[in-house]
Amino acid sequence: MPKITIQDFLRKKEQGTKITMLTAYDFPFAQMIDEAGVDCILVGDSLGMVVQGLENTLPVTMDEMIYHTRLVTRAVKNALVIGDMPFMSYHAGIDDAVRNAGRFLKDAGASAIKLEGGAEVADQIRAMTRADIPVMAHIGLRPQSIHRMGGYKVQGKTEEAAKRLVEEAHIAEQAGAFAVLIESVPLELAKKITAELAVPTIGIGAGPHCDGQVLVLHDVLGIFDRFVPKFVKQYAHLKADAIDAVKKYKEEVETGVFPSEKESFK
Ligand code: KIV
Repeated sequence: MPKITIQDFLRKKEQGTKITMLTAYDFPFAQMIDEAGVDCILVGDSLGMVVQGLENTLPVTMDEMIYHTRLVTRAVKNALVIGDMPFMSYHAGIDDAVRNAGRFLKDAGASAIKLEGGAEVADQIRAMTRADIPVMAHIGLRPQSIHRMGGYKVQGKTEEAAKRLVEEAHIAEQAGAFAVLIESVPLELAKKITAELAVPTIGIGAGPHCDGQVLVLHDVLGIFDRFVPKFVKQYAHLKADAIDAVKKYKEEVETGVFPSEKESFK
C-alpha cells in the first residue's frame, strides 16, 4: 500500500470514501494502527490526559510532542502522520508558530500539523501553508480553550454560534487548511459544513456526515476510563484485560506455577 498523502484526503472526499483517523503516541500502537490500514494518525496533545495523566492538555510542551511524534513516525509505513500543535506553540507570534510547526516535519518526520482554531489562527495557517507545511484546522470544541469555553461542552447549538462555526470553517479553508477537524457539534451543523467545504471534514462527536472520523485510541481500546464521552465507542476493553493478565501473572508467581520447566533453561 502506498503512503497516504493529503492529496488522498481530497480524492477521498471527491469519491465519497470515508477517511479514517486515530490518535497514537508511541511505536507499538502506531504500528498496530498502520498495519490495520487506518489512513491517518494524529499525535494528539490528548497525550497529556491519556498518557501523562494530566487533568487537561494545556501543560503539554513542544518538546514532548516532538518526542512522541518521532516514536510514531518511526513505526508508520503508510498512514499520514499529523503532529498536534500544543497550547502556546502558535499563539505568541507568526514566526514562532511557523518555526514550531516546521519542527514536526523537520525533527519528527510528520507530514502535516493540526492546530486548534479557525478564524483567529487564519494568519498562522496562511504562513504555515506558504512554508509548505500542510495544516489541519480544528473548530467546534477546542480542548485548549476549555477555560474560555467553560468546559467540554457541545458547540454551535444556537443559530448564531452555528453561523459563526460555518464562517470559521470557510476562513480556515480559504487560509489554506487541507482539512478541517470538527469536534462536538450537532450533526446537522457538521453536515452543512461538510457540504459547503471543498476540503474534507474530520469529525469527533460531530455525527456521521463528516468526510472522515477520528477518535482517541485510548478511548477506542478501553484503556482510558476517567470519563467516556458520549461520542466514543469502545471496541475493546484493554484496561480490564491487562489487569486480569497482570493478576494472573502475580498469582502464578506467588503459587509457583510460573516459571515452569517450559520457561526454564536446562
Ligand atoms: O489531541 C487530540 O487527540 C485531538 C483529538 C481529540 C482530535 O485533538
